[in-house]
Amino acid sequence: MYKETLPWVVNYNAAEIPPYTIPDVLKCQDGTMVGSKEQWEAKRRPELLEIFRKYMYGQVPPKPDKVEYDLLTEKKDALGGIAIRREVRITFRMNDGRFRSFVTLAYIPAGAKGRVPVFVGLTFMGNHVITNEEVMMTGMSYPLAPDKQVRGLQTFRFPLEYLMGRGYAIVVASYNDIFPDRSNGWADSMYNLFFSKKELENRLDDYSSIGLWSWGLSHILDMLETMPEIDTSRAAVFGHSRLGKTSLWTGAQDTRFKLVCVNDSGCGGAALSRRLYGETLYSMVEHNNIGYWFCNYLCQHSLHPEDLPFEQHQLISLVAPRAVSIHSATEDQWADPTSEYYSAFNAGPVYSLYGKTPLANPEPPAPDTPVGTDVSYFLRTGKHNLLPPDWMHYLDLADIYLK
Ligand code: GCU
Repeated sequence: MYKETLPWVVNYNAAEIPPYTIPDVLKCQDGTMVGSKEQWEAKRRPELLEIFRKYMYGQVPPKPDKVEYDLLTEKKDALGGIAIRREVRITFRMNDGRFRSFVTLAYIPAGAKGRVPVFVGLTFMGNHVITNEEVMMTGMSYPLAPDKQVRGLQTFRFPLEYLMGRGYAIVVASYNDIFPDRSNGWADSMYNLFFSKKELENRLDDYSSIGLWSWGLSHILDMLETMPEIDTSRAAVFGHSRLGKTSLWTGAQDTRFKLVCVNDSGCGGAALSRRLYGETLYSMVEHNNIGYWFCNYLCQHSLHPEDLPFEQHQLISLVAPRAVSIHSATEDQWADPTSEYYSAFNAGPVYSLYGKTPLANPEPPAPDTPVGTDVSYFLRTGKHNLLPPDWMHYLDLADIYLK
């Protein structure tokens, strides 16, 4: 069935994709079919969550003994007066004296009537890259190369004025402060709150970096309970690329996020692992040395996605009945936009159980034409990136689900 010239590293020829099947999203491990949302919630949803924890993203990190929030700075007339800006440090403490912290950066529309909805996400290079304002430089634990220690380096990915104008707050932190994004990042990650140096010398088999980044996102949402301007019952989680994989995993687990924005997440995110096009699990693990994004089981089985007891549309289905939006880009074939669509489409039956609207068409739409509501998909013309057209679509959905 699969190409004899395995190991399959990368394929950009659609005609060469080996035959593959997408497991029925309503089928349980014992072969029975789910027929109602009650059965879904009682049986298949918990079963699937367990499967994704055991085989892909790892276990939920342990709980710190204590969590503290410190308001470090506040500016009531940020962005020329349209926003309140806050920097809050979240500190995790263990009873044995260990502690770790990271700093969040929030922009909140000024002068809003009542509480506002919020977008929560992580940045690659630090809080300082989303704005030209004098905020703290974070993510330095990487350590960040000097050319990345530049304010405003990624303002194009974070259109703050636009978000404020449409009435949404945004809160970010650097993922490197949670788990430095490198294969030997374990010892410097926040897993060191819970595990010994010795345990962290090697990878933790049952945990992953995505699992810890996701843990960080949930902790940011907890912290937002302390901000009177923000309505945490109207929160979206967003992420681009590896952080899109992270936002999807977060949205699957943390039901407080009512809208889940998954940008160009590709392999190990929204894309089907069995469709061997663009990046493959095998290339991630064996060629790009990014197996630590996942738990060790996945690393050991990356060559044979057809044998995995799960597929990525099932991950999307875990977000149901909450809204999920999958974005791809035409020039991001590495992420296999077509399979990201198939994945979103095949999560549909679970949305139908809830009376929600699945994607209608089994084939992907033309570029720049967003489709769907409860499950939606958008293929932007252009490269692998998070850009204003993506935000426009996310905010259009937010106007439906968070307002
Ligand atoms: C690499 C990786 C992708 C990932 C991307 C990113 O291209 O292979 O899986 O999504 O980096 O995070 O930018």
